[in-house]
Amino acid sequence: MDNLFEYINDTEKFNKFPGTRYMGSKNKLIPNILRILEGYEFNTFYDAFAGSNVVSYLFKTVGKKVITNDFLTFSYLISKALIENSSENVSDSEVEFLLNHKNDQNFITNKFKGLYFSDEDNMFLDRVRFNIDLLDSEYKRAIALSALARSCMKKRARGIFTFTGERYDDGRKDMRLSLKEHFVLNVKLFNDAVFSGDAECYSHNESAQNLKVETDLIYLDPPYYTPNSDNDYVRRYHFVEGLVRNWKGVEIQENTTTKKFKSYHSPFSTKKETYLAFENLIDTYSDSIIAISYSSNSLPSKEELLVMLKKHKKDVVVHEIDYLYSFGNQNHKIGNNANKVKEYLFVAQ
Ligand SMILES: C[S@@+](CC[C@H](N)C(=O)[O-])C[C@H]1O[C@@H](n2cnc3c(N)ncnc32)[C@H](O)[C@@H]1O
Repeated sequence: MDNLFEYINDTEKFNKFPGTRYMGSKNKLIPNILRILEGYEFNTFYDAFAGSNVVSYLFKTVGKKVITNDFLTFSYLISKALIENSSENVSDSEVEFLLNHKNDQNFITNKFKGLYFSDEDNMFLDRVRFNIDLLDSEYKRAIALSALARSCMKKRARGIFTFTGERYDDGRKDMRLSLKEHFVLNVKLFNDAVFSGDAECYSHNESAQNLKVETDLIYLDPPYYTPNSDNDYVRRYHFVEGLVRNWKGVEIQENTTTKKFKSYHSPFSTKKETYLAFENLIDTYSDSIIAISYSSNSLPSKEELLVMLKKHKKDVVVHEIDYLYSFGNQNHKIGNNANKVKEYLFVAQ
C-alpha cells in the first residue's frame, strides 16, 4: 500500500491521536484493520483490550459507537479522555493551577528518588498529581492524568519502567525536555484530540473475561502468549499505572529495584489459561461479529483459533499481514529474520 492511510476517510481527525510506543499497539496496522473491517456491517465496536486506544479512536472517527475496556487504569483514562469524552478540555487557567498551586506532597520524590527522573521532575509530579484531583470534572482529570502518564513515557527510553537510570538513552529531544514542558505540550495534544463522535461512547476498566457488553462487533487484541517471553503490561508500565491510581490499592514490592507492584492477574500469561480465555470469550460473544488480532509466533496457533471460531461461526476469514516488529517485546531484534512474523486478523460472523 503506497499511502497507508488511504482507507481512512478523515485522516486529519485520526492523526490527532496522541500515540505512544505502547507494547502491542496496532498503530502501524490501522489502515489494514480498517480496510478489512469496513467490509462488515456493525454500529457498535467493542474494543475489549484497548491498550493505547488507537483502534478505538479510529472507529470513533469513522462514526461508530465505541465501547472500550482494559484492566489498566491508565489505558482506561485515555479512553475516558478521548473516546467517552466528547467536548471537555483542560483550560489554560486550569493548566496554570495544576502547575502552580502549592502543596506539600513528596511521595514520588522520596519513593522513586534516583530511579526514573530527576528530583526536580519528581517534585513536579508530586505537585501536579495532587492538584489534578482538585479539578472538578472526571473528563478533565482523565485528560490531565493521560497527559501526565504520556509525559513520563515520552521521557523514558523505550517508554518503559523495567529498568532504572538512563540506560538506552538515545539522545532524543524528548529525553532532554523537563516533565513540566512535556506535560504542557501533552495537555494541548489531548485537548486537540477530543471530538464528538456520531454516537455516545463508553469506557470500562475490568478484566475482559468478567465483562459482558452488548455489541455488534467485538475486537479482541489480548496480550500475545509465547512460551519464551513475558507479556506482562504491569511490569513495563507500573510507574504510570501507579501514578494515575496514586498507588491506591496496589502494594509496592519494596525489595525490587524498580519499586514495581504486583502484576494484575491476566489469563493471557499462562498457556493453559490463554486457551481457556479464548474459548470463553468466543463463547460469550458468539452472537457478535468477532475480530481477533493475533500473531504467527504466539499460541493458540492459527489452526487452533480457527477451530475455536468455527465451533460457533459459519463464516471465518483469516487475513495475514506481514509485519516487522520494531519493539523488542517478542525476544526479536530489528534486522533479524526471525523478527518477521505474520499478524493475523481473524474475522468470524
Ligand atoms: C496487545 S495490547 C492491546 C493493544 C491495543 N489494541 C492497541 O492498539 O494499543 C493488550 C492489552 O490487554 C490488556 N489486558 C491484559 N490482560 C487483560 C485482561 N484480562 N482484561 C482486560 N485487559 C487486559 C493490557 O493491559 C494491554 O493494554
